[in-house]
Amino acid sequence: MKRPWYRFLYVRSSLVKLLLSIIAIMVAVAVVLFQGIAEEPRMLAQTANWDGRSIQNGAAIYANNCSSCHGPDGRGLPGVAPALNSRYFFTQRLADLGFTGSLEDYVALTVAAGRPNNRNSQWAQMMPTWSAEYGGPFRGDQVRDVAKFVVNWEEEALTQTQETDPWQPFENAPTVDIYGDGGVVAMEPTPVATGPRPPQELFVSMTCVACHNLNLPQDAQNRGPVGPNMANLHETAATRVPGEDAQTYVHNSIVNPGAYTVESYTPGIMPADFAQKMSEEEIQSLVDWILDPNRPQ
Ligand code: HEC
Ligand code: HEC
Repeated sequence: MKRPWYRFLYVRSSLVKLLLSIIAIMVAVAVVLFQGIAEEPRMLAQTANWDGRSIQNGAAIYANNCSSCHGPDGRGLPGVAPALNSRYFFTQRLADLGFTGSLEDYVALTVAAGRPNNRNSQWAQMMPTWSAEYGGPFRGDQVRDVAKFVVNWEEEALTQTQETDPWQPFENAPTVDIYGDGGVVAMEPTPVATGPRPPQELFVSMTCVACHNLNLPQDAQNRGPVGPNMANLHETAATRVPGEDAQTYVHNSIVNPGAYTVESYTPGIMPADFAQKMSEEEIQSLVDWILDPNRPQ
């Protein structure tokens, strides 16, 4: 009988059979692995594709719904609505707000909920509520798309300099040197109450009041809650340390309480760090105020 041409497929040795099956399994595993490796870039490409479409949809949504207030290119309209295509928005806004999520999340949240309650806003217009979830016209994916579109301005926004950036500062937003051009802040700093704090306020905020009574005199009967009473300090201060007048003594008592301990009081109780917590000007005004015999009660 003539052997068929494929007779080499008839394997008699079980060892060879075993080897062949192992090879077959290894080939199968390799194919699966290879597909897995090839899948990753394909998925990435697919995601980029989706993002691209999302941004495209977002662009249309933006043009139809947002550009009337935020400007066609996101540069805001003075007094109407803030710029979004701004370096400030991309680099500093979240930090100023203390928002810890991503900028895209922030945009999506703001768009979804709007700012319907901001009555005393500095802006002429109110940011409407957009998401159906809150009674607006958009589906969730539309909110996402427009957020993606806004965030897509990042590259352009980061090229803005202080001169070109359209950002109008939010009232009460803190400011920093986001343009990195040598300490020049981007916006007018918000006027925070700087300047020296008044002595009445310091006496309370520095906790002096917890240990000193201003209205009772310090004598054998009235020793004070923890530290000496102060109603007669203007008479006694100059007698404490030889060579120190009342002003100098009280000043030193505040900035360096350890230098001298009033007789029969415990040393080391009065905090020693007031010089770091008050400016020299404030300390001086506190000294004058404490020593003023006609201090208003
Ligand atoms: C009727 C005018 C108006 C329309 C339309 C409008 N906005 Fe606004 N938007 C505002 C105003 C005003 C603010 C500032 C609100 C505030 O804080 O008082 C704002 C704030 C924002 C903020 C937050 C900015 C920041 O720095 O905190 C984002 C993001 C935003 N809008 C995106 C959009 C998007 C996207 C659309 C379109 C879906 C849109 N807005 C439509 C007026 C508008
Ligand atoms: C935790 C308690 C405590 C606080 C807070 C404190 N002191 Fe005193 N202070 C003392 C004690 C105790 C003495 C007396 C011992 C000494 O001389 O160090 C004293 C002494 C003084 C004296 C000297 C009084 C005298 O009769 O000679 C002055 C002045 C004074 N404190 C001012 C202040 C001022 C101003 C503040 C707030 C900025 C302050 N102290 C906060 C406990 C305190």
